[in-house]
Amino acid sequence: MTRYILAIDQGTTSSRAILFDADLRVAAQAQEEFPQHFPQSGWVEHEAADLWSSTAGTCRAALEKAGAGPEDVVAIGITNQRETTVVWDRKTGQPIHRAIVWQDRRTADLCRRLRDEGQEARVTEITGLLLDPYFSGTKLAWILDHVEGARERARRGELAFGTVDSWLIWKLTGGARHVTDATNAARTMLYDISRNAWSPEMCDMLDIPKEMLPEVLDCGAEFGTTRPDLFGRPLPILGVAGDQQAATLGQACFAPGMLKSTYGTGCFALLNTGTERVTSQHRLLSTIAYRLDGQTTYALEGSIFIAGAVVQWLRDGLGLIRQASDTQGLAERADDGQQVILVPAFTGLGAPYWNAECRGAVYGLTRNSGPAEFARAALESVGYQTRDLVEAMRADWAGIDSSVATLRVDGGMSASEWAMQFLSDILGAPVDRPQVLETTAMGAAWLAGQRAELYPGPEEFAKGWALDRQFTPAMDSATREARYAAWQRAVQATMTV
Ligand code: G3P
Repeated sequence: MTRYILAIDQGTTSSRAILFDADLRVAAQAQEEFPQHFPQSGWVEHEAADLWSSTAGTCRAALEKAGAGPEDVVAIGITNQRETTVVWDRKTGQPIHRAIVWQDRRTADLCRRLRDEGQEARVTEITGLLLDPYFSGTKLAWILDHVEGARERARRGELAFGTVDSWLIWKLTGGARHVTDATNAARTMLYDISRNAWSPEMCDMLDIPKEMLPEVLDCGAEFGTTRPDLFGRPLPILGVAGDQQAATLGQACFAPGMLKSTYGTGCFALLNTGTERVTSQHRLLSTIAYRLDGQTTYALEGSIFIAGAVVQWLRDGLGLIRQASDTQGLAERADDGQQVILVPAFTGLGAPYWNAECRGAVYGLTRNSGPAEFARAALESVGYQTRDLVEAMRADWAGIDSSVATLRVDGGMSASEWAMQFLSDILGAPVDRPQVLETTAMGAAWLAGQRAELYPGPEEFAKGWALDRQFTPAMDSATREARYAAWQRAVQATMTV
């Protein structure tokens, strides 16, 4: 009998299921995309039913591909797109509204109003977050405001709120468990990350009935067992973490000062700050990296909304490339005499600027600027934005020793040698790309597997992290600083137009 851990990675554009064997190697995987709904400009929704059916479907498909039966699966680990908000009826299990996705900006006005009332400092003190539509709290308030009778029903305990992990666990367990983990709770703007408990003050501020909140568990815990009919026997769910936190685990960033950056649609950099919560003076988020055996490890997080999405825009918006991998070849051919700068503020800017209103801009165009210069500017924009985050981290936390910290990278764009070399050049720091790029799913699998005693504890697991390639800075420091200064001027100009 083979022993597997089944990792569920429910992401923003697709659901995936990955079977890891006893040596933490990928044995099989399946992936399914699902529809995105954009009912208005700036709004993004998912059908919660799609999130569930694609998850269940890919789990079955992965098992089938590996020729594995339920008796081969030791446990399930879940990782998920964070902040996305689901509300459902406890009795019928039916969602009362489509899930409002993390990218959705519909609550910008509510956030502005609360900021104008002077609430932001208190929100940050409690939750570690900023008053931005990104987080679940205002999305949940919006649903309660717009679905008739919802708030009253929630007060009566008839409705349940959850991030995607919670929703999936509810479905997997046939409604037996309404739970989440500390990392997902930390993204709701309703959770006190110092006390490790739901915050009555935040619930009051947003008028959220506490009766609808899930129970919060460690990342490695008993989250329930699956309905027997789903996979042929009940399978225990033993690990849960939000996707960026799971990637932090998958990258084995267990020690304070370790830093990872994941390049998907957006880019999320997390710096492990240890058991001490660090408050950012530079508009980064303080968040929970993981909670194991009741011990919380914190992180500083920088979130950029457009990273890989800028390459998608080159392909689908401008028609300059046929596939993402064409970008590198084009960028290599760009004219060194030109300095085209692209600020991809397509949906505003995330950390450290948090400007929801500004929009993208291009600077430095000449008569000779063409697809190659656009491609290079697009890849460079990801490097520049990462440097913005790392600068803020360096300023916020002395524990990131000296000016140099190695950045561990993963996600689709980390496959681009050109983008990773530029990243190292502009950071002036080494960039390490691991052999296994499935870090997010691996983090979730590790959580469940170590709980099931199939995988080793953090120290042994960290020893298994293997380098594929290290990129080291090749740009001289005068050029680096001049180019970064030009980027900063471009961002300032973009925010003042
Ligand atoms: O905070 C949002 C993040 O968790 C989404 O990640 O990989 O689904 O785009 P991803």
